[in-house]
Amino acid sequence: MNSAQPWWKSCVAYQIYPRSFCDTTGNGVGDLEGIRRHLDYLAWLGVDALWLSPFYKSPMADYGYDVADYCDVDPLFGTLDDFDKLLADAHRRNLRVIIDWVPNHTSDQHPWFIESRSSRDNPKRNWYWWRDPKGDGPPNNWIASFTFGPAWEFDESTQQYYLHTFLPQQPDLNWHNPEVVAAMHETLHFWLDRGVDGFRMDVIHLIGKDPELGDDPPDLAPLSHVPLNHRPETHELLRDIRLLLDSYDRDRMAVGEVYLLDTSLVATYYGHGDELHLNFNFPPLYTPWDAALWRQQIEKAEQELGPIDAWPTWVLSNHDNKRHRTRYGGSESRARAAAVLLLTLRGTPFLYAGEELGLEDCVVPPERVLDPGGRDGCRAPIPWDGSPSHGWASADPWLPWPPEPDKRNVADLTEDPESILHLYRRLIAARKASAALAVGSIELLDGPDVVLAYRRYAPGDNDRFVLINFSQAPTSAPVDLTGPAVVEIASDGEGEGAPFTGVLAPEQAVVLRRC
Ligand code: GLC
Repeated sequence: MNSAQPWWKSCVAYQIYPRSFCDTTGNGVGDLEGIRRHLDYLAWLGVDALWLSPFYKSPMADYGYDVADYCDVDPLFGTLDDFDKLLADAHRRNLRVIIDWVPNHTSDQHPWFIESRSSRDNPKRNWYWWRDPKGDGPPNNWIASFTFGPAWEFDESTQQYYLHTFLPQQPDLNWHNPEVVAAMHETLHFWLDRGVDGFRMDVIHLIGKDPELGDDPPDLAPLSHVPLNHRPETHELLRDIRLLLDSYDRDRMAVGEVYLLDTSLVATYYGHGDELHLNFNFPPLYTPWDAALWRQQIEKAEQELGPIDAWPTWVLSNHDNKRHRTRYGGSESRARAAAVLLLTLRGTPFLYAGEELGLEDCVVPPERVLDPGGRDGCRAPIPWDGSPSHGWASADPWLPWPPEPDKRNVADLTEDPESILHLYRRLIAARKASAALAVGSIELLDGPDVVLAYRRYAPGDNDRFVLINFSQAPTSAPVDLTGPAVVEIASDGEGEGAPFTGVLAPEQAVVLRRC
């Protein structure tokens, strides 16, 4: 099935935050070998592609998103050999591997920046954004993410400011300098030559900047500069990156983190099929659990992306935000309904490791807070079994365990066919077996406010109807199903394989197959 479609359209992607996946050395931090040892689990779950958050050499001011060497593995995570073994073993199981690429900024410990800051006439000075003070202060009003202070740090020894859109330890690279472009292209070649299947490109919309570095609108500036930077220069740079990827084969893929909070702007990063293959679209991630609001997001994605033939992506959780189960109020029935939504929408779903276990964020006591952006909760370690160390080499990982690790762990949920883990597995399998679900079209259906309903359809496959009851009361199905429809999947497992009764239980979601 779907052989005519590129893999990244029909795939289910699974994000791994390496620090939190599995530790095999006893230092409390997950590592590449820990990922390799669990590939059989991922293959069993049925996902097709892994996105690995950064494992590069890093002083870890932003837990790896501050890269000190783009072409090496931090000893915390292992070695390049470990990476090669992981990649080969993943490929043996038909799992593709996408790695995180962090092009907007390096670590302040990267040799490029150490040189750049060493003197005003260093040949790498112009690899970063250095500017004289404006009056007594920074060169413009841009605000940094995380600190919400100026995005400029004054360097005493050379008496200039450098730009950092994130932490001061993350200076922004100057992509308007062709030497930077060439050096960063080399880093892509390095990993493509090793065989990676693609990249998740970190805050990619930031690489092109206003050459004048003009002020942000004062009413918007406090948002931080990140969601405001939307520049034609970036699109030019992306077209060159796309040519580089395409010079390998059509199979290499880039998914961009485009942190612009408007789907119509995100759409432009697909170009005319000559920029990024996929882009993350953040407005749905920030949408509360509400049928009408979700309907609007789906409509918006179809309106903005459909006409330009751009393929959507869907994400409910990642390493930067509270897990969706926690955000949606904590009930497992809701987390199950959300799984049905995520895995039946038109577009590529990205799961975040642990959501298939129904994990909630961990509670982080004040003395254990680590992340400058307040994102520790969603980065809790994955519990693999019910033993005291939950399958980690140390019982005391870098962050606290998520709630209920004694029961809510991979080993226990694998044993329980009624668990949320098995629901994810059934959904992924159903999606793979159905062209309608994997790559088909979508039609939103009218109905009561509390039910989100849509049809997925493709030539040669039975139509699927997805009905999601957002309310806590039983609700009649909004659709007049002509012809019998069988329950293919139910979020609570009830009635699967039987004709649909026409009523949805509280917070129940179903996938129906029209016979
Ligand atoms: C992206 C990453 C986030 C990181 C930031 C700076 O938003 O997802 O984790 O802190 O970029 O690199």
